[in-house]
Amino acid sequence: MAARVVVGTQWGDEGKGKIIDILASRADVVIRSQGGNNAGHTVESDGNVYKLHLVPSGILYPGTLCLIGCGTVIDPKALIAEIDGLAARGVSCDGLRIDPRAHVIMPWHLELDALSEKARGSEDIGTTRRGIGPCYMDKAERSGIRIADLIVHERFAKKAMTAGENKAGLIKKLYGADAPDIPAIIEEYKGYADRLRGFVADVSVLAFESIKQGKSVLFEGAQGTLLDLDTGTYPFVTSSHPVSGGVCTGSGIGPTMISDILGVAKAYTTRVGKGPFPTELLDETGEKLRLAGNEFGTTTGRPRRCGWFDAVILRHAVRINGLTAVAINKLDTLSGFKTLKICTAYRLPDGSIIKDFPCSPEELSLCSPVYEEAEGFEGDLSVCRSMKELPKKALDYIERLEELIGCSVTMVGVGPARNQNLER
Ligand code: GDP
Ligand code: IMO
Ligand code: MG
Repeated sequence: MAARVVVGTQWGDEGKGKIIDILASRADVVIRSQGGNNAGHTVESDGNVYKLHLVPSGILYPGTLCLIGCGTVIDPKALIAEIDGLAARGVSCDGLRIDPRAHVIMPWHLELDALSEKARGSEDIGTTRRGIGPCYMDKAERSGIRIADLIVHERFAKKAMTAGENKAGLIKKLYGADAPDIPAIIEEYKGYADRLRGFVADVSVLAFESIKQGKSVLFEGAQGTLLDLDTGTYPFVTSSHPVSGGVCTGSGIGPTMISDILGVAKAYTTRVGKGPFPTELLDETGEKLRLAGNEFGTTTGRPRRCGWFDAVILRHAVRINGLTAVAINKLDTLSGFKTLKICTAYRLPDGSIIKDFPCSPEELSLCSPVYEEAEGFEGDLSVCRSMKELPKKALDYIERLEELIGCSVTMVGVGPARNQNLER
């Protein structure tokens, strides 16, 4: 049985798409379990760059079954645009399947995402404005519309009318904005239903059978551990469970089906959106990291906040996800920094030191990083094709991270391409 989970260990954008694409060359099935098109996963293949949002990153390998599980939220318009965009570049989505239990993002979810962010003013979360939170709200409130409803016209029309009227009241009365045109939306979504009906299949059954048959199955995490609704930096999180535990409920498989869990991290830390970030660099070093790493969001284009590697975060991720190994990406980006800093613990204002990640943003915002310094390294790491070609100081850095996080580093990224991944 080979069902491997790949999760983000920081605040997302760790390079999960690249790792999934590399592992997918040896996989039969790739599954997304949570999130929606708030994700942006970059895959570089033969010089072509693909930015995937909801379609699993295994899609570039013909014959790979790519499943979107019950824990996801689907904007049909965005998904169809993604499928068409891939087709225009010669990538077939024939192997794509969508679980009927996944929830549908409606236009009012997008609108409510924007309106509630605006209403929060300076206390906003900095969402991707893809309607993710409002859609998961309806799911938890048990008034959501699912893919199973979308594909049955009459049922969909009835549910969309009820939900739409409810939201129209909210949008008009609470926010003073224009109500949605519900009949027009129902008509528009009928077209989407006709496009997507052929993709709908029970992902739980497909995943279970594939694993039982001994096929190689990969679970592709979106977002990252610190964006998890429960164990992340709430309320500055997404509305799903990007941790390994979310894979089970989000794909409809049991924990005994999982054989190993790979956590993906950057050799430093980035974050888009709001919320405390202890190792954030607001000086020219942060700017240098952003430029060297081209740290701009894949989905929204926003500049990513940058800072030093934080071992407190990684230890949190090792524990929460039960990681069996870690992949460290973007080691090449750190080349040319004279000294590198690694955060090993946090200091509270009273001088006490904590080693575990705090539970509230209020406490986290009081934490200052305790750093140790590592000697920097130089040279173009992107040409390295094996660990032994790395400069000694770069290897020392990886080995030190390994010690501090308590988990072995089995992959090191030195560039965005498939062949720029060094396996140990
Ligand atoms: P994801 O959301 O976790 O899949 O990550 P994103 O695709 O949003 O962001 C990661 C970015 O880093 C992408 O532009 C990747 O092409 C790029 N990338 C991934 N691994 C490496 C690496 O080892 N070195 C460099 N320089 N870029 C990388
Ligand atoms: P990938 O899969 C980085 C962040 C948003 C915001 C918060 C809530 O590419 O790593 P949402 O729209 O989900 O309600 O926004 O979560 N966020 C991400 N940050 N990478 C992502 O995905 C993200 N998906 C959501 O910036 O702070
Ligand atoms: Mg991303």
